[in-house]
Amino acid sequence: MSCVIVVGTQWGDEGKGKVVDLLTQHADVVVRFQGGNNAGHTLVVGKDRFILHLIPSGILHPEKVCLIGNGVVVDLEVLHKEITALRERGLQVGPGNLGLSEKAHLILPYHRHLDIARETAKGAASLGTTGRGIGPCYEDKVARNGLRVIDLMDEEVFKHKVETNLKEKNFLFEHFLKVSPLNPRDILDTYRPLADFIRPYVTNVSLRIDQAFQEKKKVLFEGAQGTHLDIDHGTYPYVTSSNPLAGSVCTGAGLGPLKIKSVLGITKAYTTRVGGGPFPTELFDELGEALREKGGEYGATTGRPRRCGWLDAVVLKDSVRLNSLSHLAVTKLDVLTGFKTLKICTGYTWQGRVFDHVPAQLQVLENCQPLYEEWEGWSESLRGIHKKEDLPPQTQNYLKRIEALAQVPIGIISVGPERDETLHLSNPFAV
Ligand code: GDP
Ligand code: IMO
Ligand code: MG
Repeated sequence: MSCVIVVGTQWGDEGKGKVVDLLTQHADVVVRFQGGNNAGHTLVVGKDRFILHLIPSGILHPEKVCLIGNGVVVDLEVLHKEITALRERGLQVGPGNLGLSEKAHLILPYHRHLDIARETAKGAASLGTTGRGIGPCYEDKVARNGLRVIDLMDEEVFKHKVETNLKEKNFLFEHFLKVSPLNPRDILDTYRPLADFIRPYVTNVSLRIDQAFQEKKKVLFEGAQGTHLDIDHGTYPYVTSSNPLAGSVCTGAGLGPLKIKSVLGITKAYTTRVGGGPFPTELFDELGEALREKGGEYGATTGRPRRCGWLDAVVLKDSVRLNSLSHLAVTKLDVLTGFKTLKICTGYTWQGRVFDHVPAQLQVLENCQPLYEEWEGWSESLRGIHKKEDLPPQTQNYLKRIEALAQVPIGIISVGPERDETLHLSNPFAV
């Protein structure tokens, strides 16, 4: 039995999709366990580029099984489009290689409407959500008003719950948020064919994972978002509404903690963030602009420009602790080529105090100053390099420093978006 969890160590978009696609070669089953279509995971294979929002990033390997766990919030209109689009591109996607948990909660049109209406009402104080209805769906789940995939399998149950929920939501829409109400009939009409479409995919993901373990198969868990977007441990309230931490694999897919052997933390060689919230190492000058342009830092889901800054070891060390990381995968190292000097943040100062962890108080985090060490950059292209020893000495020093600060070995180094632009130092399934 062997299982590996892949998580983001920063604020998302670290390159989880690329790494999951690569590791799928060693796995039998690939599972998403939290988040929804706020995620955008990019896979590049030659001239082909795939952006996945809900389907696990193992899907390009047709002989492997991909599962969407109960912890994921699922917009079936999006899932239907994603499956159809992949099939149109010649990929094999069907109930034989894709399963959806019967317990996953559904993102319904009123969740999207609520997300957007609330963000609009907040104006300048908005969180910068993806507008996909993620927060409102998780709210309903916790309030015990949610609709699960299994509810959709019974038309009467689904109709009753949608009508009941819409009474409350429409009151909010009309009288508080001053936006148009929704008609339950429209939702029922949209969802009738979707129910028929999805029925063959519906499964018990926990049982499927358990069966895989019993058959000595290898299971890869694909996190979405990143550690510092975690609803409990992130930069609240500028977070998402799920737990992207490794621990939430247990509740989000249905297994116990003793099964977890290896956790791989994906770390971009610098830092990015989309949407609002504190970001101590953010660069507002031409260096930030250079990172954005060289790194192609535009959101895979919303197309928004990503905020860019230096690598933050405070953020990284928190991620090591919060996820029990066993290895790191450092991505987008190639983007740093050409920077004369690189900075790594090793602590924050605020009113004479020094922090070596991310402070909980938003006002402190927003006003703290990063403490930097400087490292010599390199000018050589890293693309095409496959051995660590072939990297320029300055690059090796930068990586050694990351390992020393994180106290976790680097297992994978990524120097380009393509599969073979990767240095494999250790196989996380070998643990
Ligand atoms: P995810 O959400 O963590 O899966 O990351 P995204 O797909 O949103 O963003 C990462 C972007 O960087 C994608 O466009 C990837 O194709 C790209 N990428 C991944 N690894 C590398 C790398 O090592 N170098 C470069 N230049 N691009 C990379
Ligand atoms: P992947 O999986 C980067 C951010 C949004 C916003 C905040 C809350 O591709 O790394 P939400 O719609 O979740 O309520 O928005 O979280 N966010 C992400 N940022 N990558 C993601 O996913 C994200 N998913 C949500 O930009 O700031
Ligand atoms: Mg992304």
